Amino acid sequence: MTSETVIEIKNLRFRWPRGDGFRLDIPAFEVRAGERIFLYGPSGSGKSTLLGLLGGVLVPELGRIRLLGSELTRLKPSARDRFRADHVGFVFQQFNLLPYLSVVDNVLLSCRFSARRRARAMAAGGSLHDEAARLLAQLDLEETLHRQGVTRLSVGQQQRVAAARALIGRPEIVIADEPTSALDAERQEAFLALLAGECRAAGSTLLFVSHDRRLAAGFDRELSLASISPACGEGRAA
Ligand SMILES: Nc1ncnc2c1ncn2[C@@H]1O[C@H](COP(=O)(O)OP(=O)(O)OP(=O)(O)O)[C@@H](O)[C@H]1O
Ligand SMILES: [Mg+2]
Repeated sequence: MTSETVIEIKNLRFRWPRGDGFRLDIPAFEVRAGERIFLYGPSGSGKSTLLGLLGGVLVPELGRIRLLGSELTRLKPSARDRFRADHVGFVFQQFNLLPYLSVVDNVLLSCRFSARRRARAMAAGGSLHDEAARLLAQLDLEETLHRQGVTRLSVGQQQRVAAARALIGRPEIVIADEPTSALDAERQEAFLALLAGECRAAGSTLLFVSHDRRLAAGFDRELSLASISPACGEGRAA
């Protein structure tokens, strides 16, 4: 591992308890600082499972996961949660926005759970609210929407709120789990360009996951889940 390595996996194995035989087996996988990676694989092949492992939500049976030089697999659950809050911005497959909070308050959730992200957001924007508003504006969400509840937004707008929440406080690693699947082709491209642009500006490493290889243009590296985990060659779900 070099000092530039942001994500490092070695000899990882994961199986779901009482699972149906699905397993991830990753001998080695590395992502360098600032890289933008496009990871693809069919539905059910294990993309979200891998992201759960990288986020420290799931724990491997064997092997090592190192993020920014810290060995996630050796941290206690509470320390793993703290590490994730401080260093990883997640755009979830289903966005996971809180329906009873406004747009801005959803974005600020990341800062609520991390003093580090809070300090970095304030340094970038002057105040937390200004930084949230700046990111939302960058993502083309007009100001009149910022105070609204998220349930009143379109799917595309909700997706951009989820992206702003992942990006605020400039986490070193941004992980996006198929966030574009509900959008038409034009909006998908615009969203990807915005996400990549914000990651570049913040110096964040981006791991973007999708089953749709047409979205891979513009990434530094495109790879299939099967190429890093040969056991995942076939998707298992419909
Ligand atoms: N909570 C769970 N408990 C048991 N098995 C699970 C669980 N979540 C996923 N799996 C299984 O793990 C395998 C990989 O699922 P995963 O959600 O990682 O695929 P994916 O590549 O993200 O699919 P999609 O493109 O549809 O999002 C599937 O066989 C699935 O049934
Ligand atoms: Mg998935």
